[in-house]
Amino acid sequence: MTAILHGNIIHAPSFGSLETIPSGYLILEDGVLQAVAPTLPERYAACPVTDYGDALIMPSFADLHLHAPQYPMLGMGMDLPLLEWLDTYTFRTEARFEDEAYARRVYRQLARDLITSGTTRVSAFSSRHTDATLILMEELESAGVTGYVGKVNMDRNSGPSQEETAESLSETLRWLENCHFPLVKPILTPRFTPSCTDGLMKELGKLAADRDLPVQSHLSENTGEIAWVKELHPDCAQYWESYRKYGLWKDRTLMAHCVHSDQREQEAMAASGVWAVHCAASNVNLCSGTAPVRELIERGVRVALGSDIAGGDQLAMNKVTVMSIRASKLQQMETGKPFLTVPEAYYLASTAGHLYFGGGAGFQPGYKLHAIVVDDSTLPEPTRPLTLAERFERSIYLMEKRHIKAVYSEGVSRI
Ligand code: GUN
Ligand code: FE
Repeated sequence: MTAILHGNIIHAPSFGSLETIPSGYLILEDGVLQAVAPTLPERYAACPVTDYGDALIMPSFADLHLHAPQYPMLGMGMDLPLLEWLDTYTFRTEARFEDEAYARRVYRQLARDLITSGTTRVSAFSSRHTDATLILMEELESAGVTGYVGKVNMDRNSGPSQEETAESLSETLRWLENCHFPLVKPILTPRFTPSCTDGLMKELGKLAADRDLPVQSHLSENTGEIAWVKELHPDCAQYWESYRKYGLWKDRTLMAHCVHSDQREQEAMAASGVWAVHCAASNVNLCSGTAPVRELIERGVRVALGSDIAGGDQLAMNKVTVMSIRASKLQQMETGKPFLTVPEAYYLASTAGHLYFGGGAGFQPGYKLHAIVVDDSTLPEPTRPLTLAERFERSIYLMEKRHIKAVYSEGVSRI
């Protein structure tokens, strides 16, 4: 079936670029983008057009690191550093997801809030609970949020919800057996080195290799955490080696934070195809630091953005994009490394994440459409007509859910 969308088209197909097509057309066949056209080609003249008028049509967002069971504690416990925050608030909150009815309610709201905020792809941590994890996958799938979800593995230093090693592994297998969702797939999720025994890490590494599963975890977020990993793994010169030792450091592994990753750690990421997920809001909230994003990119590390709910307090990825820009400006003041421009940060929040999941670069023909439609007409009236690039910048800074008039995920209109 042919579908045609009309509006002001904006996308960032490469890092730093921004292309604008005023009053253009997106031509879709069964949800797959065929062409981006400045005028409607003659052969489509008879096809109905979904006309978004003067609104902006741009690629949707991808959130490559969030903790779904921390949604209930959003905006709480923000006065503590990472390890105390985990012990005081986080592990206790996640323990509640033993209760499936509670999980259903929270995850239904989260899935709805993600899609209405324009996030169509995620890589999410669940809790350690297999059944709640399946509920999360189901709720994301039915809301139209695609990507990866991981049942968390943690068999030490993890509060009241900690699991035994054998249980952690058998529950992981039970979870994998029950993952039958077309658009939401499993990702192995050892929480972080301090929460996983060597035995657990070893078995997860084997599972990742045997079943060719992707992996996500945390890396070099906080100095206390790094010192702890050094104590637990005295044979590892650096944090990342505790993952490599067990086969968890591989192509497409997602590592959240990387705030304190030095040149050697960054080069190890680039060499192995490990991705850094930059979580700027969380890094500031928990006083972890400002991550060396420009350096990571210059060294060839693939970078995408994450909300890191609930270390991060903003689910909307345009707000996370703005926070990434602000954090990069603080970095510039400290180190002289140039800050992220709006098109660069937007690339990291959209295109980079879509590419991680095998999607297109911006509005690239041949891929299912992931897009949002933004009506900026109710933002403060400007003094003069704005260019599309100016309207784009203002929308990234100011848009709220109410400005997002439509969301397309995997080629299907979801709101
Ligand atoms: N490291 C281990 N667990 C967590 C978590 O839940 N949030 C953050 N920000 N870092 C972590
Ligand atoms: Fe996290």
